[in-house]
Amino acid sequence: MPFQNLLIENKGGIQYIIINRESKLNALNSATIAELHDALLATFNNPAVGGIIITGAGQKAFVAGADISEFSGVDVKGAREIARGGQSRVFDFIENSPKPVIAAINGFALGGGLELAMACHIRVAAETAKMGLPEVTLGLIPGYGGTQRLTRLVGKGRALEMIMTADMITAPDAYQYGLVNHVVSPENLLIKAEEILNKILLRAPLAISSAITAVNAAQNQNVNGFETEITEFANCFATSDFREGVSAFLEKRKPDFKGN
Ligand code: COA
Repeated sequence: MPFQNLLIENKGGIQYIIINRESKLNALNSATIAELHDALLATFNNPAVGGIIITGAGQKAFVAGADISEFSGVDVKGAREIARGGQSRVFDFIENSPKPVIAAINGFALGGGLELAMACHIRVAAETAKMGLPEVTLGLIPGYGGTQRLTRLVGKGRALEMIMTADMITAPDAYQYGLVNHVVSPENLLIKAEEILNKILLRAPLAISSAITAVNAAQNQNVNGFETEITEFANCFATSDFREGVSAFLEKRKPDFKGN
């Protein structure tokens, strides 16, 4: 599938989705949002892909936010559609992905860029990366889930300080806040992301999907996460991979999971 604003690369069972608008610091315009949805959907449906790494083209930016040039002239109804459509088609779509998604934050992750990273299951940052939600400098607030996901990740006080001051934080500070899982040198960024994902890809894929569903339920006030866990736990018992995992353990060999 040809994309104007994304690069897609496959490496083993890993699919890279690279936001590729380097001259605009990979800002997310509406075309990029649409392409991201299509790329994610194709990836979810591709049995050869076990997991996804999202990163930005070039050295400078992961994603420097939503494309501000598309905001002028937008009215309240249009803004609601931008936020709701983007959240459901990309940000919630990533969070609820049946396959693990890792953000490799290679530079500025601002506004929609940090929101994109926060929608991913795991975040690895280059030590040179800078993160923030600067929307109030534009007379806005985050609209792609940032007020919710940042608060969940770093707590209310730090979230409000970051959002209200619009300050960027460094990668080491983000690590200390619990906003990113790992901070590494720029040259080790993709190596670290791949190392984590390759380890996950050794595990039973349907159990990974169930784990994502159950952990996400912990932050969904509309469901009882304990009930979700019971359901997902029980569903695992219907899989061939469960039988293979238990047999392999008892036979003292490595399991050979097939994803069914
Ligand atoms: N939307 C649209 N264009 C953007 C953008 C965004 N969010 N972020 C950067 N760009 C564009 C710039 O307009 C510039 O384009 P031009 O060369 O055609 O003028 C290009 O990317 C390079 O950015 P520039 O500002 O010149 O780089 P810098 O190194 O001086 O500053 C930032 C880097 C990230 C500090 C600065 O670009 C910035 O503040 N961006 C906006 C961040 C933001 O508010 N994001 C939230 C949006 S809701």
